[in-house]
Amino acid sequence: MKIGIFDSGIGGLSVLHVAKRLLPHEQFIYYADEKHVPYGEKSKEEIVGYVDEIIQFMIQHGAKAVVIACNTATSAAVAIMRKKYSLPIIGMEPAVKKAIDLYGDKKILVCATPITVKGEKMMNLVERVDKHHLVDLVALPGLVHFAENQEFDTQNVLDYLKDTLSYFQLEDYGSLVLGCTHFNYFKDSFQKLMPHVHFLDGNVGTINYLMKNIEPEKQDGTIEYYYSGRAVNDEELQKIQKYLLRLEEMEKIGEEQK
Ligand code: DGL
Repeated sequence: MKIGIFDSGIGGLSVLHVAKRLLPHEQFIYYADEKHVPYGEKSKEEIVGYVDEIIQFMIQHGAKAVVIACNTATSAAVAIMRKKYSLPIIGMEPAVKKAIDLYGDKKILVCATPITVKGEKMMNLVERVDKHHLVDLVALPGLVHFAENQEFDTQNVLDYLKDTLSYFQLEDYGSLVLGCTHFNYFKDSFQKLMPHVHFLDGNVGTINYLMKNIEPEKQDGTIEYYYSGRAVNDEELQKIQKYLLRLEEMEKIGEEQK
């Protein structure tokens, strides 16, 4: 059985990375919509159109379940897609509830893209779970650009974070929710500014949920990679391997990722 996993770009590799570990015998199709990244700065209608096209691509390529490895695309399109298609569509949600359950003795900073931060889904989530007003939200669209350009732990990244987060008293926060799959590449930089913070993302939760929706396979696991509908070339594949190595490094930072 093939499982489609997609994102606007290379952020969703952080979800694929977990999926490979927890489901080593599955056949994955990874799709990065490199033509349209970043989604976080597009309109909701545009994102719905891109997501629809990708799900059709996944179905044509034999996917029996699809994971939207992108908080932004989930926020904008998951409800509409679930009405339109009958295959299981697994979305992502920023791990705000988990942060409150585990680290609700301190403030919680949730970072995501502008679309996710402003979206109705986020508003409803915060209203539902943040009874003690611990949660603050911040959009960090610059990190998506840095990640797509393979710029991770540079001074530019640090300056961008310092600047964008200067409004917050960072020592007051006990946890940081990575509400965009592109942000997993920057845990070392975040850690420089917030040395004691606990990181949370929705990756393991999403794959656990996927596992409840599929019958496990016993064959050898495979991955096919596509960039906006075309198979990647060797150079792009090498780049993807570098991203996966970077994610392996970042996974060592913060136990919550396990
Ligand atoms: N990786 C995506 C997310 O999880 C969005 C990045 C973007 O395209 O703006 O929200």
